[in-house]
Amino acid sequence: MGLDDFKENQEKKVIDANKKVRVGFIGCGWIATSHIKALLKQPDVEIVAGCDLIPGKAKAFFEKFEVEGVKTDYASHKEMLADKSLKLDAVTICTYNRQHAEPAIEALNAGLHVLLEKPFTVTLDEAVAVMKAEKASGKVLSIGFQPRMDANMKMIKKIVESGELGQIYYIQTGGGRRRGIPTPYGTTFIEDETAGIGALGDIGCYSLDMVLNAIGYPKPLTVSGYKSAFFGTDPNYAGYLNCGHPEYAKKFGVDDFAAAFIRLEGGIILDFRIAWAMNLDTPGDTIIMGTKGSLRIPSTECWNGTVGGPMTLYHEVCGEQTQTEIPIIKMKEGLFDLKIRTFLDAVKENGTAPVPSSQILYNQAIIDGIAKSAELGREIEIEIPEI
Ligand SMILES: NC(=O)c1ccc[n+]([C@@H]2O[C@H](COP(=O)([O-])OP(=O)(O)OC[C@H]3O[C@@H](n4cnc5c(N)ncnc54)[C@H](O)[C@@H]3O)[C@@H](O)[C@H]2O)c1
Repeated sequence: MGLDDFKENQEKKVIDANKKVRVGFIGCGWIATSHIKALLKQPDVEIVAGCDLIPGKAKAFFEKFEVEGVKTDYASHKEMLADKSLKLDAVTICTYNRQHAEPAIEALNAGLHVLLEKPFTVTLDEAVAVMKAEKASGKVLSIGFQPRMDANMKMIKKIVESGELGQIYYIQTGGGRRRGIPTPYGTTFIEDETAGIGALGDIGCYSLDMVLNAIGYPKPLTVSGYKSAFFGTDPNYAGYLNCGHPEYAKKFGVDDFAAAFIRLEGGIILDFRIAWAMNLDTPGDTIIMGTKGSLRIPSTECWNGTVGGPMTLYHEVCGEQTQTEIPIIKMKEGLFDLKIRTFLDAVKENGTAPVPSSQILYNQAIIDGIAKSAELGREIEIEIPEI
């Protein structure tokens, strides 16, 4: 399939604006802004309710976006979910990581479709519990990995599926930032009680998804993991000094760097590293090595949902070693618009989740395995419970 096919795939579909999806927000912080902007562009959405643990935050949020008639007088997501007068079809869960599992389970139990922000959860056990609720409800649960919607990411999967690389045996993935611990709106990303996991879950989940999705999400078998927090716990960390909050160092309770060596089913080795902060420009490009060819995917400075530049395919043509540049594909639509649209389409057509939990379960199992292995200081087997 060529570039023209990708462009065709991006064509807009016809939307039945008479059939509206009634949506509620759980969590009205930073990322909820991207959700509301994308939802407001859709002709078949009614935003009917929203809640946040911080009193007044949900009301101010909808006022800022000039959305009228939204009920926000709820002390918690439980109250909002119990309000049957809302006739909700779906919720978008934009809460910090430690508050992903519980609202997702309760929304599914209330018979609602759920768009849940990434990372899936903090622990593997939580992800399994959410999936049990999903199974019992029969509703759509999609996890918020908008880089999946990027045509360049899709190209990676196409290349792998085309057989150009032959049998894949080794993958290196990851990335990170020189100084990029996310504290623009406070400490919800860095405190254990709200975030639970740091760079490992926040941006690590994306780089894992980029390669695991491309190769069809093989089951992870074992992991030897490492994590550290040298920058986040330092009151002289440049990011804290720049925003005038050296005290954030004391609040830092997660990782700012993680690395792992993971064995996947099919004899594939996955070498992974991720950083919110490091004394380096990049810990390396992503590479996918195969028996017929290999792919180099330039890293980005930060996870912005796409690849860092043209990819290179290293292969043989008529016995000669050569390389082919895969140009960047420009997107017509924003990734968040596509994330929201594909979710709505799944809800309305009662279809399959665009980013299904059954795949992201393995992503979460790796993250959970890295955290556990790092704490134990040795390799561990990854055990995934039946759902
Ligand atoms: N997809 C992306 O590109 C992207 C980007 C940034 C953040 N995120 C993810 O989105 C999530 C939220 O991040 P954020 O930056 O918006 O954080 P944030 O701290 O700005 O907002 C989270 C909000 O959720 C509220 N909240 C927590 N638990 C709640 C509950 N049970 N009921 C109601 N409200 C609750 C908090 O009070 C807070 O206002 C995180 O898991 C993060 O990983 C995704």
